[in-house]
Amino acid sequence: MWMAVALVVVAGVVLVPLLLLYPFLPDLRQWHRVRQVYNARFGAFVLWFAYEPNVVLTRPEDIKQLLTDNDLNYTRDNSSFALFNRFIGQSIINANGEEWRRQHRILYKAFSPDKLVGFRSTFANRGERLAHSLLELSQAEGSVKLGHWLGKMTLSVIIETAFGNTLRPDEQDLMAQEFIYMTNEFTNFAHQIPVLRHVLTDTQRLETGFERLYGLVDQAVARRRSGEQDDGQIKLIDLILEANGEEDDRSRLDDAAMRDNLLLLLAAGTETTATTLGWLLYELAVNPKVFRPARFAPGGEVEQNPFQYFPFGKGRRYCLGKYFAIAELQVVVSHLLRRLDMEYLGDRATMRVVYKPPVLHASDDLPMRFFARRTSRRGSKLVEAV
Ligand code: HEM
Repeated sequence: MWMAVALVVVAGVVLVPLLLLYPFLPDLRQWHRVRQVYNARFGAFVLWFAYEPNVVLTRPEDIKQLLTDNDLNYTRDNSSFALFNRFIGQSIINANGEEWRRQHRILYKAFSPDKLVGFRSTFANRGERLAHSLLELSQAEGSVKLGHWLGKMTLSVIIETAFGNTLRPDEQDLMAQEFIYMTNEFTNFAHQIPVLRHVLTDTQRLETGFERLYGLVDQAVARRRSGEQDDGQIKLIDLILEANGEEDDRSRLDDAAMRDNLLLLLAAGTETTATTLGWLLYELAVNPKVFRPARFAPGGEVEQNPFQYFPFGKGRRYCLGKYFAIAELQVVVSHLLRRLDMEYLGDRATMRVVYKPPVLHASDDLPMRFFARRTSRRGSKLVEAV
């Protein structure tokens, strides 16, 4: 008994100052300063989301150990994202051990880079449409909230490339609308705490959202299996169904896992790609000199320091959508930069970098003004690089 009390007191004396000292910092840029202190002492710091601490490692050698040398010692536990688990709990993102291995084998085939060629026209069409919209809105309203429009664009890209005409246009719109509702709820920490969940969130509305999304995906799968509404264009749903069909009965994804993985594509491929694009355009607008593509070329800084810059993760659980995302980013950015010049209208001093799992957002949603380019960028170093 006394031992336990002593332990609690000692833990309190050590932990409370750490918790108070650290970091309910609102802006991630401030973390870099605090991080230096923590890094020198501990090689790690804590990032709070809701009531859960997330430990962030900062030393490349520790990151390597965790993600590649010793990765089987760590299991995936997405308990920080209670709603995420309820929404797509049977998908690969939550799987561990043998279950992960089986799901990975199937999804890996569907995401191989040679299968991406068929999606390039979708990336190009959406990039071109986005360039028009950004220009028109800038002319009509003086500014656009870039973050919002990029989120819309990446969501429509993933819905089209994942489902294509297995869903009618009105069904695709409903899917987008319900998904946006759901993602707005993801970061509501009330979902983490059962009592609060019932008081502070609209559980009925969420259930309706789940049902609608599940219904749409099940419908798409059923139509593809029956050959209904098949125009011969290969979509991600076809690639995943095909890879699943090659498995034996024991290792095949069941309907719930198939559905959750198809919905995971929306969750994994929308905000990630949109925020990457948003930060890229922001940096090009405010600080074009930071764009040094040579860093990413073979033999460049990135290749030399593999555990310092790894936006798509490392080791076994690296991002399966990596080549999809890179292709989408390259095509869309080259369409935007060929057509548009841009200006950031926000205040760099007050704009904060905020953590909304799983990505970093700009607190002001990136207000920008776009102009038609006066001279063609064809042949310019910037466009060639992307
Ligand atoms: C710029 C865009 C993207 C970034 C920065 C990104 C980043 C990541 C990272 C860091 C992980 C590993 C997470 C972890 O270890 O917990 C991951 C996993 C994953 N990503 Fe992406 N991602 C992007 C786009 C996409 C797209 C477009 C898709 C699909 C269409 C996708 C599908 C996945 C899947 C399925 C996993 C789970 C892999 C597993 O658990 O084995 N991602 N992503």
